[in-house]
Parts: sequence; C-alpha cells; structure tokens
Amino acid sequence: MTNERKSIHGEWSNRLVFILAATGSAVGLGNIWKFPYLTGENGGGTFVLVYLLCIALIGIPVMMAEIMLGRRGRQSPINTMKMLAKDENRNQSWVWLGRMGIVAGFLILSYYSVIAGWALSYVFRTGSGMFIGASTDVVNGIFGDLVGDPERLLAWHTIFIVMTMVVVARGVKNGLETAVRYLMPALFALLLMVVAYAMTTGHFMEGVRFMFMPGKITNAGVLDAMGHAFFTLSLGMGAIMVYGSYLPRGTSIVQATMYIAIADTVVALLAGLAIFPIVFANGLEPGAGPGLIFKTLPIAFGQMEAGTLVGTAFFILLTFAAWTSAISLIEPAVAWLVENKGINRLYASMYTGIATWLLGLGTVFSFNIWSDKTWSIPYIFKNYSFFDTLEKLTFNLMLPLGGLFIAIFSAWCMREASSREELDTSRWIYRLWQILLRYVTPIAVIIVFLKAIGAINS
Ligand code: PFF
Repeated sequence: MTNERKSIHGEWSNRLVFILAATGSAVGLGNIWKFPYLTGENGGGTFVLVYLLCIALIGIPVMMAEIMLGRRGRQSPINTMKMLAKDENRNQSWVWLGRMGIVAGFLILSYYSVIAGWALSYVFRTGSGMFIGASTDVVNGIFGDLVGDPERLLAWHTIFIVMTMVVVARGVKNGLETAVRYLMPALFALLLMVVAYAMTTGHFMEGVRFMFMPGKITNAGVLDAMGHAFFTLSLGMGAIMVYGSYLPRGTSIVQATMYIAIADTVVALLAGLAIFPIVFANGLEPGAGPGLIFKTLPIAFGQMEAGTLVGTAFFILLTFAAWTSAISLIEPAVAWLVENKGINRLYASMYTGIATWLLGLGTVFSFNIWSDKTWSIPYIFKNYSFFDTLEKLTFNLMLPLGGLFIAIFSAWCMREASSREELDTSRWIYRLWQILLRYVTPIAVIIVFLKAIGAINS
C-alpha cells in the first residue's frame, strides 16, 4: 500500500537531484560559520573528535531514518508521522514529533537569516576593496559597525528572507538543482584556495594541531558537539524528512546518506583548516564567538593575491550555501500549510516568511539595542541574549530531542518489515543501523542531556 503513496508536492526528477538538494540543505552556515567558532570556543581537538563520532554513530543512522520516514509517509513531517503511526498501529501523539520539527525550523530560520545577512553584506564589503591590507583592528571595527547597526542588519535580514521565500513559493524543486550542482563545487574550490593561503601563513601546523590534538572538553562542549552533528546534517526537525518525501522509489537511502554526510563533513573540516591558521598568524582569539569568520577571513582576503575577487566570490557562495539550507528549514512548515490549510504555496510562503521575519527582529536587536537584555526559559536556560536563547533552545535541545524520537520511532515502533523494505539494504547494514538507533542514539542523547543540564545553567 505504501508503495503507491505519492507526494502532492511532486518528486525529485532523479536520485542525483535529491542528493544535491539534501547536500544543499546540509552544507551551509553550520559548516563554515558555526563549526569553526564552536571548535574555537570548545578548545579544539576533543570537540572535533566528539563531533566526528556523533556524525558517524548518531547523525548518519538518524539521517537514514529521516529519509526513510519521509519516503514512506510522503507528506509534511506532521502528516507523515500521523500516517506512519496509523500504519504501524502506534499512538497518534507521534504527530508531536512533526509539530516540534516545524516549530524548530521556523525558530532556526529566524536567526539563520540574520547571520546569512552578515554573509551577504560581506559580499559588498569585500567587493569594495575595504579589506585590502586592513589590520586586525580595522577588520574588527568593520564587523562591530555592522552588528551594532540595527537598520543595516534589518535590511540584510529582510533581503535574505525575501530571497528564501521566493524559491520556496516556486517549489523547492525548481531552481535548486542548478544552484547546488554548480555552486557547491565552486564553494569547495574557493575553500581549498583559502586553505592554500592558510598554508603560507607559517601557522598552518598550529591550526592543524589545534583542531586535531585532543585536549580538554566540558560537558556543555559535548552537548555542543552533539547538537552540531544534528544541525550540520539538517536533522531532528523534519527538513531531511520532507526532502525524503519527494524521493523516488528505488533510490538507495544508505548510499545517498553516505554521500551527503561525507560532503558535509569535508566542507566543515576544510573551513576549520582555512580559519585557524589565520587566527593564530594574526594573534586572534579562537574563542571569539559568532563573529569569528568575519574577523579572520577578511584579513586573508586583504593580503592574498586577487583577494578581493576570491573574497567576494567566497561570500557570494557562502550566501548561496545558506540560501539552500534556509529553504529546507521552512519547507516542512510550508508543505504542512499547503496540505492542511488549503492555501497555495505562494500564500503559505508569504505567511511563514512574514512570521519568520518578525521573529528575526529579536535576533537583529540582540546584537545592538537589546545587547544588555537577557531572557530566561524557566527550568531550561537563564540569562541569555535573545539570539543565544533561540540558538540554545533549538540547537542544544530541540534538534537532539527530535533526533532521539526519530530514532525511537524508526527502530522501536516501526515493524521490521516496514523499515527493512524501505531501507532495502544488506542484512548486516540493516542490523548495524538498528543497533545504533535502538541503543547508541537514545543512550548517548540522554546521557549528554543529563550531564549538560547543570553545565548550561551554571
Ligand atoms: N544544515 C544547515 C547548516 O549546516 O547550515 C542548517 C540547517 C538546515 C539545520 C536545515 C537544520 C535544518 F533542518
């Protein structure tokens, strides 16, 4: 019966398009903006190791599960979970997994768009030659001026939300393919160029050592590494599930997942190798926080041969990478509105776009007029800025929780016959997948949560 189910939103034209779109979702600000600054804040080597372990043991199996659930349900995450709970004779409250995912995507996009706005604005800053020969102080000052100005941040945030909603309104399948097919390899090539520059700084090995020599890590750092594994692979909120729902039958989920996860991880590691040598060569702080790439890369672009051109292209491609991820963040909500509220994609995109834009104002202001204001969520987080509160809520809590429930549903609640049919892989891969999802993911997520609860609030 499930074999005949069709998505009302259409299907990817082939397997490659799915892999490209899912890679477009996975590779984004998470890899180039977030991974380096988290690694810096959490002291390097051990953080990277824990992150890689989380990708291999939790991220990859959860991604397979999400694609599988999507392809079986063929609808937005809420309706997919409703349908699958019915198919498998399970409680209808599984729809809450879909609901939480949709809310998480909406919350994430509200701040993701503000950061993507920074990348977009750096296209013009780099393009104007502002960074040629600029000192560390000048580069820091330019970043400070940008985030300190609510009007400018608001303008870039608005442009990025409009860009995202235009694509979502047209349907994610149109246009996404070309964007990802050519721009991803181009981004990869430019990252390699920055890594090549980093090798000339005389501090390359210091960067490598920082990234790969094990050191100390806190419980909160382990939670960050796990949260990042979900975030960077776009897991735990239904983005990959909804992309899976457009996947034609007969595509190997296991193989597709491996391609996506490897591409994503390589991009993140390259970003680290590009950035840390620059940090050390210029006496910067690896723990500089969310501004890290905006304070380091411009120094490199200001010094390297043809740096203005390379730098401008780099920020254009970073904006594209953020764009293809942003689209997938909001697609679950739009698909659900179309399915349940009887409105067309255009209106669904407009409503969600306006709501996300409004919520994004909180993040815009948290870098300037609200910079002293703190927020708390009872029993969970105390005294964080608006941006940090949303970020921690989604990244450290909602995504791992979503991943945990996806693991429980697919490995404990679904009949083996269903998951086996859908995954369609060898016996031992199936067993390995099942063991990882049944035991490793739930135990790891719960232990990390329990250990980190105290740490986050201290
Ligand atoms: N994976 C994206 C990145 O690394 O930038 C962010 C993201 C997209 C997270 C979609 C979650 C998601 F559902």
